[in-house]
Amino acid sequence: MNRFLDLADLSREEVVDLLALAQRLQDHPEPEALAGKVLGLLFFNPSLRTLSSFQAGMARLGGRSFVVTPGNGTWKLETRTGVRMDGDCAEHIREGIPVLASYCDALGIRAFADGRDLAADLAEETFSAMAALCDKPLVNLESAMNHPCQALADWKTLDDLSVPRRGKFVLSWVNHPRALPLAVPAATLHMAAHRGMDVVVLRPDGYALPPELMDKARRAAAASGGSIAETDDRSQALAGAQVLYAKEWGSPRHYGEAEADAALRRGLADWTVREEWFSRAAPGCRFMHCLPVRRNVAVADEVLDGPRSVVLREAHNRMVVQMAVLHRLLAR
Ligand code: CP
Repeated sequence: MNRFLDLADLSREEVVDLLALAQRLQDHPEPEALAGKVLGLLFFNPSLRTLSSFQAGMARLGGRSFVVTPGNGTWKLETRTGVRMDGDCAEHIREGIPVLASYCDALGIRAFADGRDLAADLAEETFSAMAALCDKPLVNLESAMNHPCQALADWKTLDDLSVPRRGKFVLSWVNHPRALPLAVPAATLHMAAHRGMDVVVLRPDGYALPPELMDKARRAAAASGGSIAETDDRSQALAGAQVLYAKEWGSPRHYGEAEADAALRRGLADWTVREEWFSRAAPGCRFMHCLPVRRNVAVADEVLDGPRSVVLREAHNRMVVQMAVLHRLLAR
């Protein structure tokens, strides 16, 4: 493995193998496995988990890491091509990324969606341009439409909890004060389909995921024996569900139109996950969220603090599975 950019690049068997390596490293630590190796971490957007779990994981394997957050103590980097750089960006990624890659043995990049042009974001134009500039092993730390590290950690969390492969997995839209990117819902939907689950996307009118993302998940489901459905009927979606995965995202119908999106979501204040949502779910239905989460906007305290919530386990598993990714990329 030379790059970890999309869980879809790995077969189901390869994901299972990678998770077995994660479990092995969890059970039998290898504190010298990456001695002498350096990981570069380039964050165009904020992070708590991704940044700290990669640094901690690299250290636990005996390696080192450095972090660059353009515009915060380092030059702001221009990502567009062909522009006259007379604004606030002092350096272009065409120089910046090869320079950073020359200092490290593997590079991770986080670059969220531009959020203006849905087609450009679906095509991963910005991330792909950066990936083409990196000649070292590369990890996607969250791009416009993907978050493979989160998806891998969530798959491990489902395995840890013995959630059946063909269990019912509900990905539900939940409220947020503003439109958020599609990366996590896209990656989560695909992950559950790739694992072979019966997946239902529960979302209000206006928040259907783009056909490109649904089709990608349908292809994964077809290959793994799972299924994909979508509805705006909460009661129907949650009947018999073994997992409710909540996520906030912006309206694809009003992509890049903040005011139209805000107007649409003003009537959706009841899309906050509460304990009563689980009345028709399977006994022991788990609650998942990638974090960060806004309490009592997206999810009520009673759910986050209750026994069905596994959000902290998901977050811990970020470090565990990323150690396996780093091991595959860098251990010799
Ligand atoms: N879930 C996740 O990626 O968290 P951060 O944005 O804090 O890295």
